[in-house]
Amino acid sequence: MTPTLVVHSAAQLVSIASPGGPRRGNAMGELGLVSDGAVAIKGDRILLVGDTSEVLAQADKDTKLLDASGKVVMPGFVDPHTHVVFAGDRAAEFEMRLQGTSYMEIMAAGGGIMNTVRATRQASLEELVSQSRGRLDRMLTHGTTTAEAKTGYGLDTKSELKVLDAIRLLGGSHPLDLVPTFLGAHAVPVEYSGRTDDYVDLVVDEMLPALQVEGYLSDQAPIFCDVFCEEGAFSVRQSRRILERAKAFGMGLKIHADEFSSLGGTALAVELGATSADHLACTTDEEIGLLADSDTVGVLLPGTPFGLAEDHYAPARKMIDAGVAVALATDLNPGTCYCESMPFVIALACRQMGMTPAEAIVAATINAAHAIGLGQEVGSLEPGKKADLLVLDAPDYRHLAYRFGTNLVQVAIKAGQILAGESEV
Ligand code: NIG
Ligand code: FE
Repeated sequence: MTPTLVVHSAAQLVSIASPGGPRRGNAMGELGLVSDGAVAIKGDRILLVGDTSEVLAQADKDTKLLDASGKVVMPGFVDPHTHVVFAGDRAAEFEMRLQGTSYMEIMAAGGGIMNTVRATRQASLEELVSQSRGRLDRMLTHGTTTAEAKTGYGLDTKSELKVLDAIRLLGGSHPLDLVPTFLGAHAVPVEYSGRTDDYVDLVVDEMLPALQVEGYLSDQAPIFCDVFCEEGAFSVRQSRRILERAKAFGMGLKIHADEFSSLGGTALAVELGATSADHLACTTDEEIGLLADSDTVGVLLPGTPFGLAEDHYAPARKMIDAGVAVALATDLNPGTCYCESMPFVIALACRQMGMTPAEAIVAATINAAHAIGLGQEVGSLEPGKKADLLVLDAPDYRHLAYRFGTNLVQVAIKAGQILAGESEV
């Protein structure tokens, strides 16, 4: 088979060729580096990865060539936790927080997530899609080629379905691939204030069945169910009700656990076989042990404490040493972390959570892919996988963590198509 495109002569090719499941322990630091490396692509798939001389031998006169001399070639980032679809912004609350009001205080006073819920309910489907599209563009510019996208700013059946429609429309029309997550239990909407169990009834008895009626639970397209398990949001008992029902509908499971307080959400995730448990800023040692012995990926979000100007970073070093499969994500949302950049998350992970640059890259690619059920499809450069790759304007992968605040992604290739910056290479 003749390749349609060969990216060649990379100073470092980061292959992350993977052993099957997500990486743990020492394997989290292994990047599968090839010097003077190349990737051959046919259509939307990777054909061959190896030395430049070996790979270029497959090319013919019709093959397009991209010279990556002196640069890093690596898999596109997978961002496995985002709230990218929302209307409006909360810049005013950001300023209130800087002046001393806490995130949960703002939420208890009817602001926070509810503020975005009001804007999102009011927005038409078209407005929601157009406001969110710019964020997807910036994610792609910073190297994200696949992302998860949650609902959770609708909080009534009609509006939650509207957000899911927006995710579906964006995923179908934007080069970045989106995996949807239903987060109907993101907050208790004001109209259910003091009646959380009644809202849980609505999620379980009306919203989840509506997803099925609307065709969101087909086998072809994966979809996850998530719950914000937190004081002031949903208890472990309420989270369990929702996640057990979602599991019965065949959905994959996720949970926001231990973001501000430790309620037992991580143990619940492991017990129910969740694909991921996310945040984990104050997870107990005992629950870290449970995670390490499970297939549940720990998705860490260091942009969130940074965004809140707080100091509760997840204990990533302890988790990796214990054997937890750790992934990284932005948590992109208008409240705690309006950040579209996985490289910035990598820079934070190394400084604030004690990860090495290699571990952070594995966490942002192959382990992130496993955190959304796509570990066999994306997240590494291997024959047969989707041709999602980046050329970095840097000679060494460590520059991704070492430098910050500028964008080193020079070219993003999505499903074999060159999407940015070709002329500069
Ligand atoms: O992951 N904690 C809950 N959800 C988001 C914040 C959402 C918002 O404030 O709008 C988070 O941090
Ligand atoms: Fe989140």
